[in-house]
Order: sequence, then structure tokens, then C-alpha cells
Amino acid sequence: MERIALYPGSFDPFTNGHLDILQRASRMYDKIIVTIAVNNSKNAVFSGDERISLIKEAIKDFKWADRIEIELFTGLLVNFAKKKNVNVLLRGVRQISDFEYEFRMALTNRRLAPDVDTVFMMPDEQLTFISATIVKEIAAWGGDLSSFVPDNVARALQKKYSS
Ligand code: PNS
Repeated sequence: MERIALYPGSFDPFTNGHLDILQRASRMYDKIIVTIAVNNSKNAVFSGDERISLIKEAIKDFKWADRIEIELFTGLLVNFAKKKNVNVLLRGVRQISDFEYEFRMALTNRRLAPDVDTVFMMPDEQLTFISATIVKEIAAWGGDLSSFVPDNVARALQKKYSS
């Protein structure tokens, strides 16, 4: 039986932390569907389609890239999981402060869909401070993004914030 997981998030933008989790998860699952939430896209820097292209480009040289699918979703995550017939949600937890929100979200999702479980994963400790919010702040002030996001994402951010 194929082991499939959803890896949901906003991915606005995709960071080295996301990449690290995806790489680790690729050793545990046969297929991973990166599931991009576009519920609140009005405030997003990148459109849903831009986020898909950036993730595709960022992972294309990894040997596990052909086992990754990328999809947009709106509405409740558990409904999307049911539609896809997947019952594992992956979430990266960087530090204890993430845990309260993640715990609440996982239990809410479990109440809504008792057969869907959340698997928490830890990124490399060097990446635990990286967040999409911090990355956008660095980009807005023209800082060096090279250790925070894949190169193609850094270029796309620089372009967004210089226009
Ligand atoms: O990367 P993020 O922003 O932390 O991801 C959060 C996300 C998109 C996974 C979460 O907000 C979500 O699942 N949104 C869809 C709406 C939903 O299902 N809400 C119920 C769970 S609290």
C-alpha cells in the first residue's frame, strides 16, 4: 500500500525549513502532496500559482522530487484530505512556542475528522528560527536571504519587493 501524506501550509514563501521537512518526509512516505492554503491569499505576497512554481523549481533537482505533488486548496483542510483519501497531515514544529497553535489545530482537525492524524516533524536545528514572516521582513528591507530560502525563492522575493 502506498504511504501518502499531505504537507499543508501557506508556503508564502517556501523556505529552507519547509525544504528540510519535505526532504525528511520523503524518507517516510512514498508520496507527499504539498497542500497550499489559499484561503487568505489577498494578504499573500505570492499568488497560489506562483507558490506552486516556486516550490517545483526549488525541489526539481532532488531525487525525491517526482514523488511530490503540489496542489492549492481552499476551505477546511480535512475536507481536502478526505477528497484526496489521505489520513496523515505533516506539520513542522520548530520550537515550543509553535506547539500550542499546532496542538490546537491538530485536535480541531481530529475532532472534525477522527481518522485523520497529524504527524509533527522537527526541522534541522539550524533552521528552527526561520519563518515565512521573518523571511518577508528581511526581503522588504533588502537583506541577504541566501541562508533562509532556496535561491529561486530569494530571487522572486527580491523582484517582488523591488517593484
Ligand atoms: O503555514 P501555515 O500558515 O501555518 O498553515 C496553516 C494552515 C494553512 C495549515 C491552516 O491554517 C489550515 O489548515 N487552514 C485551512 C482551514 C482549516 O482547515 N482550519 C481548521 C484547522 S484549525
